[in-house]
Amino acid sequence: MSTTLLSLSGVSRHYGALRAVDDVSIDVPAGARHALIGPNGAGKSTLFKLVTGSMPVSAGTVTLDGTDITQLPEHQRARRGVSQTLQHSSLFLSQSVQDNVLLAAQRQHRSRRSLLPRRQAAARDRVRGLLVDVGLEARADTPVAALSHGERRQLEVAIALACEPKLLLLDEPAAGMSPAESSRLVGLLQSLPASVTLVIVEHDLDVVFALATSVTVLHLGQVLLTGSPDEVRASAAVQEAYLGTGREALFLDHPGSTQMEVS
Ligand SMILES: Nc1ncnc2c1ncn2[C@@H]1O[C@H](COP(=O)(O)OP(=O)(O)O)[C@@H](O)[C@H]1O
Ligand SMILES: [Mg+2]
Repeated sequence: MSTTLLSLSGVSRHYGALRAVDDVSIDVPAGARHALIGPNGAGKSTLFKLVTGSMPVSAGTVTLDGTDITQLPEHQRARRGVSQTLQHSSLFLSQSVQDNVLLAAQRQHRSRRSLLPRRQAAARDRVRGLLVDVGLEARADTPVAALSHGERRQLEVAIALACEPKLLLLDEPAAGMSPAESSRLVGLLQSLPASVTLVIVEHDLDVVFALATSVTVLHLGQVLLTGSPDEVRASAAVQEAYLGTGREALFLDHPGSTQMEVS
């Protein structure tokens, strides 16, 4: 029996007349690798904002680990272990890779004790370890401005992990990555401990099906289907609406969207 870490119940977000997220209910078990797929505009990024609290719900309930967090502000949800990598980075470009991760870790553990030299040394060691995990150890002292696109995405994952998440939300982490970078990312995400529950929005279905233990297909703000990767692949409705004949057909309406999405 698995326990539910994240439970969304009747969650909606309206922008005027637009129902960007419309009565969504999803249960994500602890330890899951849950993928959220659907074309541009389906409401995936908005749904993430409702989970992190960067935006309030119009209706519905968000429950984390049995606690109703719907009314909690973003920073309190972060303290409870909700962490997100952003679709668009908010990195300190002139600072080093290492310092960017350190700053994120310190924001999470803001306390007087964290200023003790012993604590700071331990924090630096942890950051080094995270940079090894994401494959950026050789870039620790490099200013972020000098990183490649793929390296920035790796850094974003390190920053999210620095916050010691229970729930890690990844919004298109492989966007703009080379095939080598994205398979490295898949390896990293596969190696995360089960204590980190993943919810991943990803256009690259190779990444989705390599990782996911469960998948929700979102369409026009609504859940079309939640099931195992095999169930999603086999679903006639999903096949027709999304997968088409080839895998890329899922996003045929938006060619190049993986690289260029600006929503
Ligand atoms: N801040 C906003 N104000 C108004 N409409 C928005 C806003 N953010 C997103 N939308 C709209 O909500 C819908 C869902 O967007 P989004 O959640 O970004 O979808 P996805 O991440 O699946 O591409 C889209 O129609 C988008 O244009
Ligand atoms: Mg999006």
